[in-house]
Amino acid sequence: MISDKIQNALNEQLNAEFYAAYLYLAMSAYFQSINLGGFATWMRAQAGEELMHGMKVYDFINDREGDIDLKEVKSPSMKWDGPLAAFEYAYEHERGVSARINHLVDLSLEERDHATNTFLQWFVTEQVEEEATAHEIVHKLKLVGNDGNGLFLLDRDMGQRNADDEE
Ligand code: FEO
Repeated sequence: MISDKIQNALNEQLNAEFYAAYLYLAMSAYFQSINLGGFATWMRAQAGEELMHGMKVYDFINDREGDIDLKEVKSPSMKWDGPLAAFEYAYEHERGVSARINHLVDLSLEERDHATNTFLQWFVTEQVEEEATAHEIVHKLKLVGNDGNGLFLLDRDMGQRNADDEE
């Protein structure tokens, strides 16, 4: 069993992960619309990863005999001012997700819910990677600047991400 507080917070996290999937799918569509197919592939894989995060939370709530509450998923932005602006947005988004996870960890400690605390450790580690990855791409996009050739090569690299390689 889980407390109502933890159950509500986990259901909010479930919603946040599904929103993240929506956001990255919107970014995938955006990159497709500006003919950067490699970035679009990368974002589509990221959307799949967020769905997997959401399902992890879903399974955990079920395993703890909690009630699933599927709240409305808000509509994400659909347009950005170029690849750098999109990845800066993604980076800020991931920092926000990390803050949410940290808040959940604090709550699990307050509630003395060790199982939830242990479950959340996977997300704590994952967020380090999520932030680092987004930050690295922001950095690369800054280096590339307005160089079309550099952007072409970076798009090709981004397209190497395998949608089955999600974790
Ligand atoms: Fe579910 Fe991007 O963290």
